[in-house]
Amino acid sequence: MQLNSSISAVVTGGASGLGEATARLLAEHGVKVAIFDMNEEKGEAVAKSIGGVFCKVNVTSDAEVDAGFEKARASNGQERILINCAGTGNAAKTASRDKQTGAIKHFPLDAFNMIIQINLVGTFRCIAKSAAGMLTLEPLNDDGERGVIVNTASVAAVDGQMGQAAYSASKGGVVGMTLPIARDLMGEGIRVNTILPGIFNTPLMNAAPENVKAALAASVPFPKRLGKPEEYASLAVEMCRNGYFNGEHVRLDGAIRMPPR
Ligand SMILES: NC(=O)c1ccc[n+]([C@@H]2O[C@H](COP(=O)([O-])OP(=O)(O)OC[C@H]3O[C@@H](n4cnc5c(N)ncnc54)[C@H](O)[C@@H]3O)[C@@H](O)[C@H]2O)c1
Repeated sequence: MQLNSSISAVVTGGASGLGEATARLLAEHGVKVAIFDMNEEKGEAVAKSIGGVFCKVNVTSDAEVDAGFEKARASNGQERILINCAGTGNAAKTASRDKQTGAIKHFPLDAFNMIIQINLVGTFRCIAKSAAGMLTLEPLNDDGERGVIVNTASVAAVDGQMGQAAYSASKGGVVGMTLPIARDLMGEGIRVNTILPGIFNTPLMNAAPENVKAALAASVPFPKRLGKPEEYASLAVEMCRNGYFNGEHVRLDGAIRMPPR
């Protein structure tokens, strides 16, 4: 897909980190961008700085996602690009014993379900509603291309660490649904791909102490540093531009393979 001002995009999680970098890069290519995020203050600021529109959306809410698409499309027209970056994680062992008291506990099921609802169901909700909108568009080119969707999983989809049962399940679900969704949409000219980031230097990571960040950087085979959000954005944008990129999930991780803990 050729990126220019006739194309509009929705970026979930676009107020921060990987989503923000992608929203900025799309805007640099002239694309009209709408940001879906729960963080109103940061989302409004990013949208303003790129001439885009902000929609306060929690991806777990059907009504908020519907209202977000309505607002985005009223302002920018029907999107041909959806980038799914909204997501979060938590950590708890499946079952464990307190070292001091010996008390036994297990992963709280509501916390497990919350991560699945945000990262997996929230991603699918945005895909389904965006794809339905894209079906109303005329194809752009001889291939019959109507649109493109990029999702964000994680290397934890494949090598999840101790405590990551919920996060890994949610991201594994995103990887698993990539090909069947691409197949569902192949007759309509909509491509679907997923990125599995390694460890990226986003506000999420900035909160970690310097020694923790240094140890994480040292654990990356090459280059020995955290990924830059711009490097994620570059791959996401290439997945939009390259018309033969479809049904694929790709690690972007400096060759890291996460250890058990
Ligand atoms: N940073 C990393 O190292 C890394 C690694 C692998 C995967 N990821 C994934 O990349 C994505 C982006 O992460 P990031 O590092 O940029 O984090 P971030 O916290 O900087 O940005 C995530 C954004 O998503 C928004 N968000 C969270 N839950 C939401 C919801 N329910 N509805 C709408 N918006 C919501 C947040 O407000 C935030 O603006 C996430 O899915 C994360 O799991 C990040």
